Amino acid sequence: MWAETFLERFYKQNRYTYNILLTHSMAVAEKSVKIAQGIRFTTVDVEFVYNAAILHDIGIFMTRAERLGCYGRYPYITHGYWGYRLLQSEGLIKYARICQTHVGVGLTIDDIKTMSLPIPLVDMIPLSIEEKIICYADKFFTKKQGNLAKELPLEKVRGQMMSYGKEKLLRFDELHNLLNCS
Ligand SMILES: [Fe+2]
Repeated sequence: MWAETFLERFYKQNRYTYNILLTHSMAVAEKSVKIAQGIRFTTVDVEFVYNAAILHDIGIFMTRAERLGCYGRYPYITHGYWGYRLLQSEGLIKYARICQTHVGVGLTIDDIKTMSLPIPLVDMIPLSIEEKIICYADKFFTKKQGNLAKELPLEKVRGQMMSYGKEKLLRFDELHNLLNCS
């Protein structure tokens, strides 16, 4: 429960956002743990996966997403980077990487350049098995009120990935094949 308590610390003034965030994060955590428990080809730190999934979107309050009750100054797509900064400053280095690498199928230097995002030009692709699991599981859940805990069908997620480009869909399919092969 420490991750939920930690998350709440940053959303005390904003119950509306906290309720959306916690419901979303718990859905992602549940799917992530299920995937982690099914993996046989390597060892996975399941407890870390759970807590990291609870924290993966902690940075959203620093971004602008009015429908989520977030009135920060940065573009929403950068929430992973701001979460990374926050967790790093709290000494949660390993958890910080999860925030930084979960957006889309991971932001590349090219993505950051193309979108002129106000974040460092650093490759933010998921590398560890835990980073890959949370990045992948997150794609199955939206932050739409009423549908927060409802898992999207695989083909819908693939369609969304395709809307960001063929390369993103390919990377998503790679994650899918890796995490469903055991
Ligand atoms: Fe998320």
